[in-house]
Amino acid sequence: MTRFRTALARLRIALPPLACGAFLGAPLVRWGATGDPVDGIAIAATFVLVSIGCRMSIQAPSKAGDPTTWTLMSAMQFASLMVFGPWVVIPASVAAVLLHCRLAGRPVVACFGNAAIAGTAQVVAAAAFSGLGGSFGHIQLPGDYAPFALGAMAFAVAAELLVAADSCAEQVSEGASVGLVLRNEADGLREYLPASLLETLVGMSLGMVYLLGAWATLVLLAPIASLYLAMRRGVRVAHVTEAALETFANIVDERDRYTFEHSSRVTEYAVMIGRELDFTETQMKSLYWTARLHDLGKIAVENAILNKPGPLDDAEFAVMRTHPVVSARILESFAFDERAADAVRCHHERFDGRGYLRRAAETVPLDAFVIAVADSYDAMTSDRPYRQGMPRERALDEIRANIGTQFHPECARAFLRVMDRRDDLAPGDEQVELDELRDVA
Ligand SMILES: [Fe+2]
Repeated sequence: MTRFRTALARLRIALPPLACGAFLGAPLVRWGATGDPVDGIAIAATFVLVSIGCRMSIQAPSKAGDPTTWTLMSAMQFASLMVFGPWVVIPASVAAVLLHCRLAGRPVVACFGNAAIAGTAQVVAAAAFSGLGGSFGHIQLPGDYAPFALGAMAFAVAAELLVAADSCAEQVSEGASVGLVLRNEADGLREYLPASLLETLVGMSLGMVYLLGAWATLVLLAPIASLYLAMRRGVRVAHVTEAALETFANIVDERDRYTFEHSSRVTEYAVMIGRELDFTETQMKSLYWTARLHDLGKIAVENAILNKPGPLDDAEFAVMRTHPVVSARILESFAFDERAADAVRCHHERFDGRGYLRRAAETVPLDAFVIAVADSYDAMTSDRPYRQGMPRERALDEIRANIGTQFHPECARAFLRVMDRRDDLAPGDEQVELDELRDVA
């Protein structure tokens, strides 16, 4: 396996520069052989268009993996490809992607990787377009709808598959498990492919309208600018919503003086369990928010109950028991993350079905059971005015003793394994991971 990982790492470094060399060199060889005049204006126009596409970028928050940078690069590449043809567009856009990646400060390996993906996706799109009877630089409707649309789809699918394959190779060569990497990339494809298809279809419209009449392209500038501004606004709203929810979680943590920073600690334990259970990045983001916001409904519980310096009576306990449902309702009103909202609703459910809502285990999301273990451990080990927190070993014994009754066996065993290993971790390791996850979430 180690040799396979090393070979994969070497391939990732060697293959893209070779591909870029071929994309830049092949047109030169062809021009040399045929002696056709070089269309310098078309090359410059492609270079400028792809550069504009690279500069129009929006950093979107992402539920899967690293934050995505959305650009109009693919749209411009596909539009140019339809108008000027592959021999002009592939070298010009490979050069533009290489230059802009470097200007953005990305590592050389990543720049070659991106440029090679752009060039290969264009080869695939050009083959699909010509294979379906399309002719570069010409359009005849309605017959050309099919080659234009299918060429655009081939471009988007090829680009996304190549990005996923490159990301798989990178993670596997760095030691990640193949199964987890494949599940992560499948999540990524589901999330990004629709947006990528739409972007390439914008490029298709641009190319088609230009071929129908160059000046008509100006008509498309306003809708494209509106789309770009609407996306920027949408991304800003998503950032603000997440910041507001983090603030709510902090308010709940600070309001309950006996469980100060409770949700931060529960999140830390939940993240450890999620990693142990091989959760994908998408599942990890959802688990992060479930843990951080699980007690949000305590906002609606009055201070006298929340901060009572003694055990609660029946009436007070009845009020306290409403908080998971209130938490879920608040999250739903944000139209935030359905998975997280349902898991929050169920975080006091038990594996034997005798929890707050008495829901059967099969109907409870796994994330809720992860939170239940993390939440109980933190509650047991925290001091209360009427009792001292339990020592760590006793709390872990308590969890062990309640596997299969109160706790989901898989989640509880994962937590016990992680806590067993935890002494070996360098201090602050989990905090670093938590900070990284918070940045991405
Ligand atoms: Fe709770």
